[in-house]
Amino acid sequence: MRKREIHIVGNWKMNQTLHEISQFFVEMTKMKMELKCKAWIAPQAIHIPILKEIAFTTGAIQIGAQNCCEHDSGAFTGEISPLALADMGVEFVIIGHSERRTIYKEDNELLNKKVLKALEHNLKVIYCVGETLDEREANLTHDILEKQLSVGLANIPKQKAHLLMIAYEPVWAIGTGKTASAEQAEEGHAFIRSHLPHSSDETIILYGGSVKPDNIEALLRKANIDGALVGGASLKANDFRQLCTVASIVM
Ligand code: PGA
Repeated sequence: MRKREIHIVGNWKMNQTLHEISQFFVEMTKMKMELKCKAWIAPQAIHIPILKEIAFTTGAIQIGAQNCCEHDSGAFTGEISPLALADMGVEFVIIGHSERRTIYKEDNELLNKKVLKALEHNLKVIYCVGETLDEREANLTHDILEKQLSVGLANIPKQKAHLLMIAYEPVWAIGTGKTASAEQAEEGHAFIRSHLPHSSDETIILYGGSVKPDNIEALLRKANIDGALVGGASLKANDFRQLCTVASIVM
C-alpha cells in the first residue's frame, strides 16, 4: 500500500507559445479526467501568471517555476525572485535541474543557497539529482548522488523538510529516449531515500528521464518511486493526460 501521493510534474523547459498553451488546456478540458494524482506544470517564468490563471479556472493543475535566484531582490538582472514567486502564490520550484547544473554551471553550493531561500518562503522545492553516463560507467553514481544530497541539502531546518521533494534524473536518460529500467530507478531512489538530511519515509521522490505513457507504469509500481518529472511528454495534452491516468490507476 503506497503511503505517498503520486505527483506528475511537467517540466516545459523553454517551450510553448501562448497559442500552444491555450490548445493544451482546451484539449485537457475536453478530456474531463478525474485526477487522483497531483498534476503540476512548470512553464517558462514568463508564462507563470497566465498559467496560474488558466489553472485556477480549470482547477486541477498546480503551477511552479523551473528555477529561482538565491536572493530575494536586488541587482540581479534576468533572475527570478523566490520572494516574487511566493508572493504570486506559486506552488513549487524546481532547483538543480541537470540543464541548470551543466549549461549554467550551477554547483551544489549555489544550489544549496537556492534551496534554503525557496524553503524560507515556503515554496515546495523539487531538488534534482542524477549522474552522467560517464559517472555511471565509472561506478560513481552513489558518490555523485551522495555529494549532490549532502551539499545541496545542507542545513535544511527540520520544520521545512516536508516542503522538500527530490527528482532523480539520470542525466543520460534526459531527452534521450533511454529511460532507466524500473529496477535501476528504484535502486537510485532507495539510495536517495536513505541519504536525505531528515530521513523521511514521506518524502516524495520523482523519477525523471524520458518518462512516457508506455513506460511510466512499471516505474510507478516501485516502492520508492512517487511520481515523475516529465519533459517532452508533458508538452502534449494527450500524453500528459495519459501519464496522469496511469498514475491515478496505480495509486
Ligand atoms: P525528458 O526530460 O522527459 O524529456 O527526458 C525530463 C527532464 O528534463 O526533467
